[in-house]
Amino acid sequence: MEQPITPIMQARNITKVYPGTTALKNVDFDVLPGRVNVLIGENGAGKSTLMKILAGIEKPTKGEIFLEGKQLTLHNTREASDLGVSIIHQELNMFPDMKVSDNMFAGNEVSRLGVVVDRKEQAKNAREVLTRLQQDIDPGQMMRNLRVGQQQVVEIAKTMLQKELKVLIMDEPTSSLSKAEVEVLFKLIEDLKSQGIAIIYISHRLEEIIRIGDVVTVLRDGERVASANVPDIDVHWIIEKMVGHTTLSVEKPPYLGERQELLKAENYCLPRLGGGYTVDHVSFTLHKGEVLGIYGLMGAGRTELVESLMGLHPESSGQMVLDGEVIDKPMVCDQIARGMVLVPEDRQKDGLVQTMSIAENMMLTSIPHFTRNGLINKQASKRAVDDAMRDMQVKAADVRHLITSLSGGNQQKVVIGKCVMAKPKVFIMDEPSRGIDVGAKTDIFRLMRGFAAEGMGVIFVGSELKELISVCDRILVMSNGLLTADFSGDEITEDALVKASAAALKTGKTA
Ligand SMILES: Nc1ncnc2c1ncn2[C@@H]1O[C@H](COP(=O)(O)OP(=O)(O)OP(=O)(O)O)[C@@H](O)[C@H]1O
Ligand SMILES: [Mg+2]
Repeated sequence: MEQPITPIMQARNITKVYPGTTALKNVDFDVLPGRVNVLIGENGAGKSTLMKILAGIEKPTKGEIFLEGKQLTLHNTREASDLGVSIIHQELNMFPDMKVSDNMFAGNEVSRLGVVVDRKEQAKNAREVLTRLQQDIDPGQMMRNLRVGQQQVVEIAKTMLQKELKVLIMDEPTSSLSKAEVEVLFKLIEDLKSQGIAIIYISHRLEEIIRIGDVVTVLRDGERVASANVPDIDVHWIIEKMVGHTTLSVEKPPYLGERQELLKAENYCLPRLGGGYTVDHVSFTLHKGEVLGIYGLMGAGRTELVESLMGLHPESSGQMVLDGEVIDKPMVCDQIARGMVLVPEDRQKDGLVQTMSIAENMMLTSIPHFTRNGLINKQASKRAVDDAMRDMQVKAADVRHLITSLSGGNQQKVVIGKCVMAKPKVFIMDEPSRGIDVGAKTDIFRLMRGFAAEGMGVIFVGSELKELISVCDRILVMSNGLLTADFSGDEITEDALVKASAAALKTGKTA
C-alpha cells in the first residue's frame, strides 16, 4: 500500500462570512505535495474564496492555515508568495497597457542599485521563462495585444519566476486556452509535480479533472461534502457530489429541415492586418426556430465572424438580411435595437461593468425597454431583473451589491441573463459554457432550445463537440477563416466536424 503523504498545507475549520452570504462553513482542506489537488463545486460553492484565503488575499472569519506544520497569519499575497504559495487568478488581473515582461515582474521588479527598475534584465528573464514554457510570446509586446489564452500563459510564467514555489493555485486555468495550450499546461503541471510542488487545481471541465487530478475535494454551498482519490472515481461521481443528481440532459426535437429565413449573411469578410482574411467570404443562413452551432479550432475566425455581424468590426464587409431588412453596414447599437445580441467570448472584459451593481449590469442591454420620456420605470425593471436572476439561477445575496461580489460563474450568468432580458430575435452566444458549472451548462442549453421553440434563432459558437452536438440543429464549421462545412440532422457527427475543422489547414491554405 502507498504510504500516506504528509500535507504541505492545511486549512482547518475555515469559515468566511461576507455581508449576506456565508461563503465557507468549517472547511478542512489538505494540500498534498507533488500532487494535483483538485477542488470542485458548483458556481458560488466557495472554491475561489478558499483559494484567496490560502493565498493571503482574503482573511478567514474563523479557522487556521498551516504551511509545513507552522500556523500562518497572512496579510497579503506578497507574504504568501514569499513563503512559496502562489495563485493564478480566475479573473486575470493584468495591466493591459504594460509590456508582457513588466507584467511578469509587477510587484516584484528587478532593480539596479535598489532604485532603478532593470527592464533589460526583466525582459531577458521573461524571455527565458516563456521559452522554457515553449511559448512564442514576445516579452516586449503590450499585454492587451495578446489573446486571452496567451495572457493566461503569462500569468503562469509569472509564478515560475518565483524562487521557492511550494504550492501553486490554479483557478480555472484552462477555461480560455486552446487544446494545444492545454497540453502545454498539462506538461508543465507534470513537471512541477515531479519537483514536489503541490498544485491546487480548479476546473469545471470534468474530463480534465479525471485526466490530471490525483485527489479531489468537493464543495457544496460552502461546505466540504466529499473527497476521494481520482483513480477511484468517475465523472458521474463528480456530478452526483456537486449537484446532488445526475440527470443532466437537454431535449432536442427531431430536425425538421430548414424553415423561415431569419438571418442571411453573404460574403462576409474581415481583412487581416498584413493581408489575407480572418473571415474569408463566409455565407450562411440562420432560420427561425433553429439552434445553429459554429464549430472550429481557436483562431478559425468564429468569434470574428459573429462580431462582424454585430457591427463590432467597422472594417468588415458583406451583405446581411436580418428578418427581412437589408443591412449594409451593421452598427452595434442598431443591431441590438433590431434584436440581435451577442454574449461575448471575453465576458469579463466586454460583458460587464465592474463598478456597477448586479441589477444595473443585468439591465444594461434592455434599458430602452424600461425607459419612457427618459425615465426608467423602476418597478418594471426590478421585476424583470428579478425574473432574469431566477431564470439564470444567479446565486446572489442582493442584486444591489457590486457585480464583483459574485463568483466567476455567476458573473457569467449575469452576462447571459442581460442578453436574455433584451428579448432578442437572434441570440448569439460565444463560448457560453466557459466557466459555468455542469448543472448551469445544461440550464443554458435548455434556454437555447426554449428560445428556438419560441421561433427565435440561436447561434452557438463552441469548442466542445459533444456540447454542440447535443443542442444544435445545424452546425457550421470554420477553418482558417473559411466556412468548410454546413451539417444538419444526422450528418452531424464528431468525426465529420473534426475533419471539417482542419480542412483549410490541410490544403495549406494561408488566409
Ligand atoms: N467580495 C465578496 N463580497 C460578497 N460576497 C462574495 C465576495 N466574494 C465572494 N462572495 C460570495 O461567496 C460565495 C462563494 O464565491 P466563490 O467565488 O468562492 O465561488 P466559486 O466556487 O469560486 O464559484 P465559480 O465556479 O462560479 O467561480 C458566492 O456566493 C459569492 O457571491
Ligand atoms: Mg471561482
